[in-house]
Amino acid sequence: MAVSAIIPAAGSGRRMGGGTAKQFLPLRGEPVLVRTVRLFSECPLVDEIVVVAGDVESTAELIGHFPKVAYVIQGGKERQDSVWAGLQKVHSRPRIICVHDAVRPLLTMEMLEGVLHAAAEHQAQVLAVPVKDTIKMAKPDGIVTQTPDRSTVFAVQTPQVFWVEPMAQAFRQAIADGVVGTDCASLLERMGVPVHIYPGSNENIKLTTPEDFLVAEAILERRERG
Ligand code: CTP
Ligand code: MG
Repeated sequence: MAVSAIIPAAGSGRRMGGGTAKQFLPLRGEPVLVRTVRLFSECPLVDEIVVVAGDVESTAELIGHFPKVAYVIQGGKERQDSVWAGLQKVHSRPRIICVHDAVRPLLTMEMLEGVLHAAAEHQAQVLAVPVKDTIKMAKPDGIVTQTPDRSTVFAVQTPQVFWVEPMAQAFRQAIADGVVGTDCASLLERMGVPVHIYPGSNENIKLTTPEDFLVAEAILERRERG
């Protein structure tokens, strides 16, 4: 089945701070977004890429030359709005949608191809890793309410891969219900669609705060050394 990748890159990187949004910062000499788009462009299973941007013009200048980039479009207020905007460009025929954060440039080809192959069997899949810390749930006043069994708790990553119909339906329903999820899969979960966990990697980090760049540089350096 055809695969469309949606790469949300319209965030402002509030938690990273600084003047330039993190997706445009250099990581070992190359902008984060360029690294992410290149991986998808080089993946034989991916047919087209939709990049969702804050500033369409400068983003298109940066990654528009990759052959599979079909659209660079304007994003929205929340990540969910940006992904929904991307989906408008691709949901006209049966296909698989692969949503991947622009700011996870350490995804490997092996993981990307693995999760795309697995999408033949399951309507909804997310990369995830077991959490290393014990997780506690707490009330706003800081009092702990619960400690979930660690073996049942996962840290979710992207790619998140869906069949287009259930995904579009879940997004339409979320919009109708005024629901905003911090990831795409949660919108399908509330529709009762089973979401499968595909093993991610602790190296597939999201660049969120400044120290994440240090870790990413170190991982890339090790990979480049072979
Ligand atoms: N994103 C997006 N549109 C938004 C918000 C986020 O396309 N309205 C994208 C970001 O550019 C990023 C991905 O979604 O590639 C993951 O979001 P996150 O790590 O939260 O990035 P930001 O929202 O930019 O950062 P912050 O939450 O710290 O402001
Ligand atoms: Mg954000």
